[in-house]
Amino acid sequence: MTIAVEKEAGVDEAPSGNNPILDATGPKKIGVPKEIAEGEYRVAATPETVKKLQKLGFDVLIEKGAGENANFPDETYVQAGCQMIDDPAVLWAEANIVLKVRPPLPYPSLNIHEADLLEPGKTLISFLWPAQNQPLLEQLAARKATVLAMDAIPRITRAQKMDALSSMANIAGYRAVIEAAHHFGRFFTGQITAAGKIPPCKVMVIGAGVAGLSAIGVARGLGAEVRAFDTRPVVKEQVQSMGAEFLELEFEEEGSGAGGYAKVMSKAFIEAEMALFAEQAKVVDIIITTALIPGKKAPLLITQEMVESMKEGSVIVDMAAEQGGNCAVTRPGEVYRHHGVTIIGLTDLPSRMAAQSSQLYGVNLYHLLSDMGGAENYKVDLEDEVVRGALVLHEGAVTWPPPPKPSAPSPQPKPAEAARTTAPPAAAEKSSQSMGFLKFLWPILAGLALIGVGVGAPPSFLSHFTVFILACFVGWQVIWNVSPALHTPLMSVTNAISGIIIIGGMLQISGEPTSPTAILGAIAILVGAINISGGFLVTQRMLKMFQK
Ligand code: NAI
Repeated sequence: MTIAVEKEAGVDEAPSGNNPILDATGPKKIGVPKEIAEGEYRVAATPETVKKLQKLGFDVLIEKGAGENANFPDETYVQAGCQMIDDPAVLWAEANIVLKVRPPLPYPSLNIHEADLLEPGKTLISFLWPAQNQPLLEQLAARKATVLAMDAIPRITRAQKMDALSSMANIAGYRAVIEAAHHFGRFFTGQITAAGKIPPCKVMVIGAGVAGLSAIGVARGLGAEVRAFDTRPVVKEQVQSMGAEFLELEFEEEGSGAGGYAKVMSKAFIEAEMALFAEQAKVVDIIITTALIPGKKAPLLITQEMVESMKEGSVIVDMAAEQGGNCAVTRPGEVYRHHGVTIIGLTDLPSRMAAQSSQLYGVNLYHLLSDMGGAENYKVDLEDEVVRGALVLHEGAVTWPPPPKPSAPSPQPKPAEAARTTAPPAAAEKSSQSMGFLKFLWPILAGLALIGVGVGAPPSFLSHFTVFILACFVGWQVIWNVSPALHTPLMSVTNAISGIIIIGGMLQISGEPTSPTAILGAIAILVGAINISGGFLVTQRMLKMFQK
């Protein structure tokens, strides 16, 4: 099955860490096999995302029937210009990069593990969960493969378009409400009809991360009365902005941990939280739990007694079922009734909306490959924070977990110190003397210049100049002390403030139209107008990100 890669005469061997795609002869091929995990309907590329991959310069090979369960028949891939491959072994052998959804599994029909189909030097990109899959990691390392785990993409702003965890969690949250609605025998929305008054369905969402917020949005959209709880108080405003009530505890403990995720809470906090849920369980109709802490077992928050205290016909969707469940009576992968309450422990929620999830996942993969340079400039760039975060194996070497990000940049040696460390003693002394002189020269020159302006300039100029210097100083101090996360909104608002410039420009333009003052005034109006409209556009876009 191994495909021999012949080297062109005279072509030097590429140094280690370079481009495996360009090293291989023939076209740059991406292979998308059919998922073999039971009940997995998703596929790593859709006809639409295939076209995007082709624009990046890749040829795409699809295993026959790979998209069937997600409603993408083979013909749609053929129309998109893909080569369909019958034999999965041939597909794995021919592709330089294999895109998958689930981590490699034993191949039942071929009697071989998918990991062993990955040839040395080739690349696999899929969900992998390296912390939970050590043996698989070792198996892939033995194949001398390069592997990027989509679940390890850092949750940073730049990587949002590659964040498959968020895309899947969003879909799972949506589907959780649909599943709950399917098993709940009533309307979500309240109604007043001739046949009587129908109260709105009450939904409680535990954990307002990506999945929880998505569930809140859908439940609100269906007309339910929604309340939500999270250990991270930062989500309070997001919950409220979606029209839900944020439940609060009389308990002071910060729930935000590293990377925006939750941290393990104290026993006392969990007890207080559970007392709140015990009260809520008696009044709500549906509970959707999403509480997770990365790399840990899901916290147990809903006890059997709470389930039994719920009204007949109520529903619990435990979205943490795969990680042990937030509810004591959840059976992972099952839907069953306990004491009149339907317990939904499905672990394949995104797969139940396979067309949608395949499309979003495919776009996440496209953005990652685009970030890696496309087919022409493809590179596993260890300096790229996103690639380094996702890279779990690099040519067989285990690169997971990535080195921790330094909490603060290490102070750069001052020029004088740097010179001292490299120059010989005599030269270093001379250099340090000159640097010391320069250190004092600038303030002296600036002081002399200011005195010169003060003595020579007309009083009208002097008053404007004083305001200008103060504005520079105050502006610098304000911007410098704002945390980097707030720079974009700050800049967009300050841009809007630049309307003052327009007023100044309008005052100046009224004189002789060809005079330098009028021309400068016109330029000021133009630049100010661009700043204002740009400022509002950026602000609008940012606000939209937080709106339903
Ligand atoms: P997750 O799936 O790990 O956890 C779900 C939710 O459960 C979290 O909101 C967490 O606070 C909550 N939780 C944990 N223990 C709990 C407890 N005992 N009681 C109640 N709630 C509990 O989180 P997810 O949805 O993957 O992301 C969490 C956060 O990560 C986001 O809200 C955001 O702050 C950050 N994030 C940042 C991204 C970016 O900047 N690109 C992208 C995605 C997420």
